[in-house]
Amino acid sequence: MTPEPTTPFLRACRGLPAAYTPVWLMRQAGRYMPEYREIRGRVSMLDLINNPELAAEVTLQPIKTFNLDAAIIFADILPPLIGMGLKLEFAPSEGPVIHNPIRQPYDVDILAVPPATETMGATLKAISLLKPELDSRNIPLIGFAGAPFTLASYAIEGGGSKTYLRTKAFMYQHPAAWKRLMIKLATVQADYLLQQARAGAAALQIFDSWVGLALGRADYLRFVQPYNQMLFNQLKTANVPVIHFSTGTTAYLPDVAASGGDVISVDWRMPLGWAWGQIGYERPIQGNLDPIALLAPWRELRYQIDAVLEQAGGRDGHIFNLGHGLFPETPVDNVRRLIDYVHEKTANDA
Ligand code: CP3
Repeated sequence: MTPEPTTPFLRACRGLPAAYTPVWLMRQAGRYMPEYREIRGRVSMLDLINNPELAAEVTLQPIKTFNLDAAIIFADILPPLIGMGLKLEFAPSEGPVIHNPIRQPYDVDILAVPPATETMGATLKAISLLKPELDSRNIPLIGFAGAPFTLASYAIEGGGSKTYLRTKAFMYQHPAAWKRLMIKLATVQADYLLQQARAGAAALQIFDSWVGLALGRADYLRFVQPYNQMLFNQLKTANVPVIHFSTGTTAYLPDVAASGGDVISVDWRMPLGWAWGQIGYERPIQGNLDPIALLAPWRELRYQIDAVLEQAGGRDGHIFNLGHGLFPETPVDNVRRLIDYVHEKTANDA
């Protein structure tokens, strides 16, 4: 048996009572911070991810600036695709681009399934560099990876998409190749996540960012859930809590929860209390402030934070977070105010 965790974040991940509601924010390291922009002004996104010392420094930037309850390793969901044979570029204005996208079944068969220790060494090294520093601050580190569908959408579209037309057409036209692709992705991500836990990650988060924007329930059950279950099952041996994040899945949240994950992370499109009822109150939940509320004046922002806390109803097992990542336009002062306010409002004097 692993001993009972002591930090509020890890306690909430297990549904245990915590001294206050823990807070961390998706994309907490990034362009809204001047310290981050300074580094990105001289180093490209991929060079930053591939430099363990710099990646560790950027991971710590929000930890040094705010009273956050967890750090998340600075990396991205897409670099593991490089090791599989895809040519990834973070293009300055258009976001991520894959120059040799998957367009036919043969493209799936030539994808490599390399071990993370061979291809993701820089991120694993950054995690091990951060471990002593974060341990001394009592801050757990979250490792992460993309879920098979969300990664497949980039691999097939060659970048972001509004309709997921090519991804869904591939899925319907080539179901056998789709299955092989999802199994390869689940295999690579499971190994990468297990290695992150080995290197020192105290929790893991799976980002299935686009599945709910692309697929309805019936397609989710046929084309996604079996592979997510495969991934979450393999992560059981990591012995750390696993957070399952998705967006746009309001219509089939119980099915998302059934795919796996110790904690279910929900977007801002649904009331948190309703979502919790859907997945069951014994399951810890993470969320779900609208990230754009951080661009509102304090009165409106506080109203929306209060609404999330009210929905959580003071139950154990709530991790305060956004419903999706922070935007670069977010004022730093609002981030500080949000974190301190949640702590003050939920602190129990016991
Ligand atoms: O949360 C954190 O602070 C850790 C770092 C992190 C990044 N990306 C850094 C990043 C995490 C957890 C991610 C995950 C990620 N990356 C997701 C899932 C989360 C989500 O938002 O749904 C997705 C879909 C990606 C793919 C990705 N990476 C896109 C679409 C973009 C371009 C859009 C954008 O915001 O610029 C990126 C680039 C990226 N990843 C940046 C950062 C800080 C911006 C790069 C820059 O500095 O220019």
